[in-house]
Amino acid sequence: MPENVRCLLFLSFILLFVYGIPSPNSILHPYSPLGSFSDPIKDLSAPVCNKYKCQESSQDYNSCSYFEQDESTFYVKPCSDPSYSCSVLIDKLNYTCQLKTPTPTSFPGDKCSSIDDCYGGYSQSCTNGICIGRKIGDACTSSYQCSPNSTCREINGNLQCAPLLEIGETGCSQEFDCVYNAGCNFTSSSNVCVAYGSLSPGTEILVKTCNLSENLCSSHTCLQRAAGDETAVCTGEVSSNAQIPIACNSPQTYTNQCISKLDNYTNWETSSVCSCGYNSDGNAYCDLLPGDAPMQAYYRELKKWQESSAIKNCNTIWRYPMYNGLNLQCAENNYEKSSYESFFYWFLYTTLYVEVYEAEDCVLKTFYPVYYSMKNSNGGDNDDSAREIALASLLLLFSN
Ligand SMILES: *[C@@H]1O[C@H](CO)[C@@H](O)[C@H](O)[C@H]1NC(C)=O
Ligand SMILES: *[C@@H]1O[C@H](CO)[C@@H](O)[C@H](O)[C@H]1NC(C)=O
Ligand SMILES: *[C@@H]1O[C@H](CO)[C@@H](O)[C@H](O)[C@H]1NC(C)=O
Ligand SMILES: *[C@@H]1O[C@H](CO)[C@@H](O)[C@H](O)[C@H]1NC(C)=O
Ligand SMILES: *[C@@H]1O[C@H](CO)[C@@H](O)[C@H](O)[C@H]1NC(C)=O
Repeated sequence: MPENVRCLLFLSFILLFVYGIPSPNSILHPYSPLGSFSDPIKDLSAPVCNKYKCQESSQDYNSCSYFEQDESTFYVKPCSDPSYSCSVLIDKLNYTCQLKTPTPTSFPGDKCSSIDDCYGGYSQSCTNGICIGRKIGDACTSSYQCSPNSTCREINGNLQCAPLLEIGETGCSQEFDCVYNAGCNFTSSSNVCVAYGSLSPGTEILVKTCNLSENLCSSHTCLQRAAGDETAVCTGEVSSNAQIPIACNSPQTYTNQCISKLDNYTNWETSSVCSCGYNSDGNAYCDLLPGDAPMQAYYRELKKWQESSAIKNCNTIWRYPMYNGLNLQCAENNYEKSSYESFFYWFLYTTLYVEVYEAEDCVLKTFYPVYYSMKNSNGGDNDDSAREIALASLLLLFSN
C-alpha cells in the first residue's frame, strides 16, 4: 500500500473512539441463510423515506431533531456537549439531547475500573483493570463466564470452562466452542470444528450450521434447499448486479433494484434490502451483499483478527463484533493499532453503508459522530471523497 493511502487510513482513525455510536437500524450483516431455493425474488415496494436536513440558525428549536410533518423532514442539530447524544430517529417526534448512560460491555478479558463495568454478572471480579472470568475446570453455564481462550462445554457430563477445540476436533455444541477462526459443523453424528469460510460452493451442510453468525462457506452465504428442508448448500459469490451504491426508490421504478447476480453454482439469485439513508433527499439504497467489494474487504479484516494472537486475550464471543452491534473494544485494547484501525474502518464502512451515504455533515455529527470524525480526518469535505479513498485502498488491497 503506498504511503499516502496508508497515511490517510491512519489519519482516519486518530479521532475514533468506540463509544457513543448509536446502534444501526438493521441487524449486523444478517446474510445467512439468505433464503431457500423455492423463495421467489421479492417484489419489493420502494420505501418512502424521510429527509434529514440541518437546522438553520433561524430555526431556534429546543431539540436536536425536529420533525416537520409537511416536508417529511427531520431538522437536526448536533448536541453541543459530547456527553449528550441524540437518538437515531424512528418516531416522528421531537428529540432533545440526552445524557449518555454508558452501559457496561466488558466480558472476561476486557478492561474495567470496577466490577460494575463487567457485563451481565459474567465476571467474578475486576482485578488490575481487567474483568476476571472463570478458570479452566471451573463450573459454568455460559461461555461468557469463561476466561479468554476458553469456552463452557460439557466434559464427562459436567459443564465447565475448557480449552477451545481445534479445527478438526469433535465435540462442539456451539460455535464459541471452537478456536476463534472456526465454527461448529453440526452433523447427525458428531459435530466438528471447521474453519470459517473454508467450505467451497456446492458443499452441503445442515441448516443449523448455515445459521451460525459467521459462515463456514467461502462465499459467506448458504442456502436452505427448500423451506422446511434440513439441508443447506454453500453458494458461490453473491454480489450486486449493478454498480454500488444502487438507488432503489426512484418513483419511476417499481421493479426490485437490489437483485444479486445469478450464482452459477446454485443457479439462484436473491436480493438485498432497499433501505432509507439519512440523506436530505429521502433516497434509499440497496444494502450490500456479501460478495460486494466492501464486504469482501471487511471479511478479510475479520479473518485477520480471528487468526491473530491478540484475540486469545479476548472472550470467545469477541471473534466478531456482535454484542450491541458496534463493539470492538477487545480488539481496540489488544490488537496492533493499525490492524485494529483497518478492521474498525471496514466494519463501520459496511455497517453504515446506506445510512451515511450522501448524509449532510450535521446529520452525521448528530447521529454518527465516530463516522463523522473518520470522514473528516480523511480530509474529505463530502461523502464522495471519503468513498474514493476507501475504494482506492480497497483496490490496493485486492491488487496484492
Ligand atoms: C415539535 O416542536 C415544534 C416547535 O416547538 C412544535 O410546533 C411541534 O408541535 C412539536 N412536535 C411534536 C410531535 O411534539
Ligand atoms: C490458548 O489455548 C490453547 C489450548 O487450547 C493453548 O495451547 C494456548 O497456549 C493458549 N494461548 C494463550 C495465549 O493462552
Ligand atoms: C459438515 O457436516 C456435514 C453434515 O452436516 C457433512 O456432510 C460434511 O462432511 C461436514 N464437513 C466437514 C468439513 O466437516
Ligand atoms: C436460525 O436462527 C434463528 C434466529 O437465531 C432461529 O430463530 C431459527 O430457529 C434458527 N434455525 C435453525 C434451523 O436453527
Ligand atoms: C457465471 O456464468 C456466466 C455466464 O456463463 C459467466 O459470464 C460468469 O463469469 C460466471 N461467473 C462466475 C463467478 O463463474
